[in-house]
Amino acid sequence: MVEGRAERDGWSDWLSHVDKSLSGEAASWLARIADSVVDRARLRPGDRVIDLGAGTGLTTLKAARAVSRQGSVTALDSDPACLSSLMSAASVAGYSNVIPLEGHLQNIPSAAASFDAAVCRSALTYAADLVAGVREMLRVLVAGGRFSVFEPLLGEVEWETGGSLGEYESDFAAMERTLAEKRASYTHDRESVRSAFAEAGVERYQSLPVHFKVNMSGREVDDIAEDYLGDLPGALSASRVLMDVFDGSRVTDVTRAFAEAASAGSVQCHLLGLFVWGDAPG
Ligand SMILES: C[S@@+](CC[C@H](N)C(=O)[O-])C[C@H]1O[C@@H](n2cnc3c(N)ncnc32)[C@H](O)[C@@H]1O
Repeated sequence: MVEGRAERDGWSDWLSHVDKSLSGEAASWLARIADSVVDRARLRPGDRVIDLGAGTGLTTLKAARAVSRQGSVTALDSDPACLSSLMSAASVAGYSNVIPLEGHLQNIPSAAASFDAAVCRSALTYAADLVAGVREMLRVLVAGGRFSVFEPLLGEVEWETGGSLGEYESDFAAMERTLAEKRASYTHDRESVRSAFAEAGVERYQSLPVHFKVNMSGREVDDIAEDYLGDLPGALSASRVLMDVFDGSRVTDVTRAFAEAASAGSVQCHLLGLFVWGDAPG
């Protein structure tokens, strides 16, 4: 049943679900994003790098290879379960230059100017205060240090349903509006992310929006429904937010209608992401 598995407790549980459910093109798309983040940080052997919101290590391990044994990558995450699976992955892959660090990206437990570079994939916008997160990243970078970030722009998600949800069309739109209003991470768009960097005092940065079309055609209806309701972990999950506002059985019915239409190929999802990279003031 959709609600049961839709509420994943923490990021570790959520990331392991994503790992298992992503296959083929989607998995290589994620790996390419992490590669681009690492490339744009212009990492060199010997660099000391911090990965903000490192999760289970997708970006960390790529950075660890780029800095070689002479350098190090500090993997910061607020979820200890993520760090424990990240360290297992680092050990299996033979990287001894990865250092786990439990903490919040708004309050990094590291001295100022500790790192030559910072990387981050899909974590800054989950922090309650994006500007504070960027400021904290700059604090731990040396003057002129490099940063490279990729964030999904959840405030720019667009669903094209083309009327395929029938009587549920307006309820689906209302559910989407509720999600956009109730979750801070869902309010970000290109402009809010760019302006957070400027507001935090970054003068030299570049940004590149990328567009992804998510095609759910042919996927199992239950899987689509589960992923829609459990799109983020814990209190951020759509199911948790929606069940607080709407009648539970209505949420289930609307989600089922959406999942059936998506599985039949009648729904398109347009998702934007933004790369931002540059140098810390120096
Ligand atoms: C979508 S995952 C991305 C993980 C990883 N960067 C990757 O590319 O696969 C978001 C990660 O950010 C972490 N996170 C969320 N908010 C955080 C915060 N305020 N401080 C530190 N880590 C945070 C979560 O625990 C989770 O591991």
